[in-house]
Amino acid sequence: QESIVPGELDDPAVHAVEVPEPGAVTIVVPTFNESANIRELLHLITESVPARLPCEVVFVDDSTDDTPEVIYEAAKDCPFPVTVLHRDEPVGGLGGAVVEGLKAASSDWIVVMDGDCQHPPSLVPELVATGERANAGLVVASRYIKGGSRAGLAGSYRVAVSRGATWLTKSLFPRKLHGISDPMSGFFAIRRSAVTADVLQPLGYKILLELAVRSRPRQVTEVPFVFQDRFAGESKSSAQEGMRFLRHLVGLRAASPVARMVGFGLIGATGFVPNLLGLWALTLVGMHYLPAEILANQLGVAWNFVLIEHLLFRDRRQHRRWWDRAGRFALLANADLVLRIPLIALFVDRFGMGALSATALALVTTFVLRFVGTEALVYLP
Ligand code: GDD
Ligand code: MN
Repeated sequence: QESIVPGELDDPAVHAVEVPEPGAVTIVVPTFNESANIRELLHLITESVPARLPCEVVFVDDSTDDTPEVIYEAAKDCPFPVTVLHRDEPVGGLGGAVVEGLKAASSDWIVVMDGDCQHPPSLVPELVATGERANAGLVVASRYIKGGSRAGLAGSYRVAVSRGATWLTKSLFPRKLHGISDPMSGFFAIRRSAVTADVLQPLGYKILLELAVRSRPRQVTEVPFVFQDRFAGESKSSAQEGMRFLRHLVGLRAASPVARMVGFGLIGATGFVPNLLGLWALTLVGMHYLPAEILANQLGVAWNFVLIEHLLFRDRRQHRRWWDRAGRFALLANADLVLRIPLIALFVDRFGMGALSATALALVTTFVLRFVGTEALVYLP
């Protein structure tokens, strides 16, 4: 029998932070090797926040350099509590770090901002005040409304990428991002009560997008801001981060069952390519087309499995081993083929349908069955 030691179930991070006064703000700053920026950032916060709004700062650090030590040193001169949560296992990258900070925060309001001084701390009290005034759950500091700009986004290449990504994201989530002109912003204020930490699945840089789509704060407003130049060092973003962003988008979209079914169908359709290529190769080496098609079909199944695993069900793979999932998936895919012919016969003989419409109906039926089967038998516990 297990015994529960008091306190054992508590997350130590939650207690690392002092309880500030009501109406205060917890500033959450994700850091990855930002030692050259810490002093300046804490100096700017000291200058512009505590006199207007009681605050505490929580750094969530994944650094491999001496950033935590630099923070401890600089914190000695700060008139507010400063905490460092250092993660040895940096899951979820920047977004994962921010979620740790959100969980550890104890104020009614939380402001998330970068550690490189690209986000002006002087705006922190205004973000919170605007949220209070508008009775909002989320206040986004936006580069894309009147008064805002992205002066610090170096180079026309980065500007174009940023624009394209914003447009793509807004078109994928027209309703959930309604009223948010800058869903890619890393600078925002959120009410602690609006954060639903248990449903969040952060993946990389776009934590505001994650919060807006999965936590859905009831009321959103924006405040313009000028994206500054980095104080020191370089952006930690990379091409790999770009790929992570695309996976994040697919993951967010795939949270809706209808979108998931559409994705399942689209991926299924691409399976024709390896299938036909396999058939061509096998008949070329002299195999009869029937066994060749049965084998080639497995190629299409394998292709579909890999895509579905990585795009649609990335977050649901924990219930079974990969070979178990692959086996079940292959079984369903082949059952689909086997079931189709008797189903067509049934539609034609019993319901008097024409061959073409019977085939179409059989395709749709087995597709839906396969989708539902895949969800229930491969990816649910
Ligand atoms: N803890 C942690 N873990 N912090 C990280 C990580 C990580 O894996 N990666 C980056 N950070 C920290 C950096 O140290 C910095 O404080 C902040 O997150 C932003 O990282 P930058 O590398 O400076 O990002 P950026 O300037 O390219 O992008 C920023 O602006 C974009 C808008 O153009 C970010 O705020 C993006 O979210 C935003 O979309
Ligand atoms: Mn930056």
